[in-house]
Amino acid sequence: MSEGPPEILLASNRGPLSFHVGPDGRLSATRGAGGLVAGLDRSGVAERAMWVCAALSDADRTAAHTAPNGRLDLAGHAVRGRVRMLPIDPTVFSHAYNGVANSVLWFVHHLLFDVARNPAFDHSFSRAWNDYVGYNTTFAEALAADAAPDARVLVQDYHLTLVPALLRKLRPDLRVAHFSHTPWAPPDYYRMLPDEVGAQVLRGILGADHAGFLTPRWARAFLDCCEQSLAAEVDRVGMTVTYEGRTTRIRVHPLGIDVTSLRERAGAPDVAMHIATLRNQVGDRAAIVRVDRTELSKNIVRGLYAYRELLRQAPHWQGRVVHLVIAYPSRHDLPEYREYSASVQRVAREIDDEFGTENWRPLLLFTDDDFPRSLAAYRIADVIIVNPVRDGMNLVAKEAPAVSTRDAALVLSREAGACDSLGPYAVTVNPYDISGTARGLDTALRMDPAERAARCERLVNAAARCAPEQWFRDLLDGL
Ligand code: F6P
Repeated sequence: MSEGPPEILLASNRGPLSFHVGPDGRLSATRGAGGLVAGLDRSGVAERAMWVCAALSDADRTAAHTAPNGRLDLAGHAVRGRVRMLPIDPTVFSHAYNGVANSVLWFVHHLLFDVARNPAFDHSFSRAWNDYVGYNTTFAEALAADAAPDARVLVQDYHLTLVPALLRKLRPDLRVAHFSHTPWAPPDYYRMLPDEVGAQVLRGILGADHAGFLTPRWARAFLDCCEQSLAAEVDRVGMTVTYEGRTTRIRVHPLGIDVTSLRERAGAPDVAMHIATLRNQVGDRAAIVRVDRTELSKNIVRGLYAYRELLRQAPHWQGRVVHLVIAYPSRHDLPEYREYSASVQRVAREIDDEFGTENWRPLLLFTDDDFPRSLAAYRIADVIIVNPVRDGMNLVAKEAPAVSTRDAALVLSREAGACDSLGPYAVTVNPYDISGTARGLDTALRMDPAERAARCERLVNAAARCAPEQWFRDLLDGL
């Protein structure tokens, strides 16, 4: 491995590893499975790269504190390149991650506020915002300290919007990209942010040379916000924003999946074991599958209402279908997420009470995170439902058809970024329209096998475009 300063730096809140303290008190690490990890691993540049991320837990902080300069020893962790984990003070981290990134910026971009009551920006938000600035500053300082001259820096997502501008001040020689994995809010909604906060986020990203988005729609919304909130000069043909004498390129880099490696993983014995169990529970009935973090934007509750409406309005499906709902925990520090998880469980119980019989459970809800079981559910799915109110891309919509052995039909929200490429081969729905979604489920269940097979093949071809490795290279080449 090259020992000089890194020429490529990746900055993200969540890194490629997370640490745990075992029963013997010793630290062990688990490797993350996201697209970013796969993208960097297979990019061919991992050896010249350094990943800078936050310590997310006490175990991570212990690992970071004991590593020389925060640089982790990765021997035996199957992670390529170098990783520096930042042991940010837990209160600062919580204010930045929970108080600003997840409960304000995430909500803005996914249009999640119940606007009669929220957001309400008060003194406690100002304190959280100061910590978000501090957390972004810590990242910028770490990147500035480590980067080789003229290095390229890829800053990820809504947690780190201020980093590009902060880093430019510290190290004007660096080439910096920012990439948003979320949607971007339309300007009228974005204007809910306190004016100075909204402007700082935009100015932060415009500190980059290159700002990337998953779809043209999110890129256009960013341009609209720059024009309206900053009065920046926007070129919609050349896709640039010029602000205070600097020009930032705005580009779209969609993200797909690596079909070959996913299929390989889905063929492993641990997945086969789950297939046998699930098959036993579903019997010869049709399986409608969903797999999500229990996340407000994923619209799980309306999805369940749509299933209930299907069973009520098209009763011939009763006893002939089972809904496998995999909804694993996420962001439980936020009360909205805890309440949402409780609603998912309540509605699932109501459906079971209303329709369940001695011989038929209409719905099986799994609330733990078990990747092999999710793959097993994809494999036996006849119908996949992906109905987010808004989603940057949504990779479940791409993964499930790729490993399905039954040519699954996809019911897909038109508000998911994935709808751009998958929409023509899916049954598309308005995620707020429960009756429309119920009809979509009915259409998918009734779809003729030949049509299902033809659509599924096209879904997989579309999903295979822009695999993580390609996405990573495109972003890097943008610099
Ligand atoms: O931008 C969305 C994202 O960062 C995804 O990459 C990921 O699926 C999700 O949010 C994870 O969120 P968290 O790190 O808060 O669990």
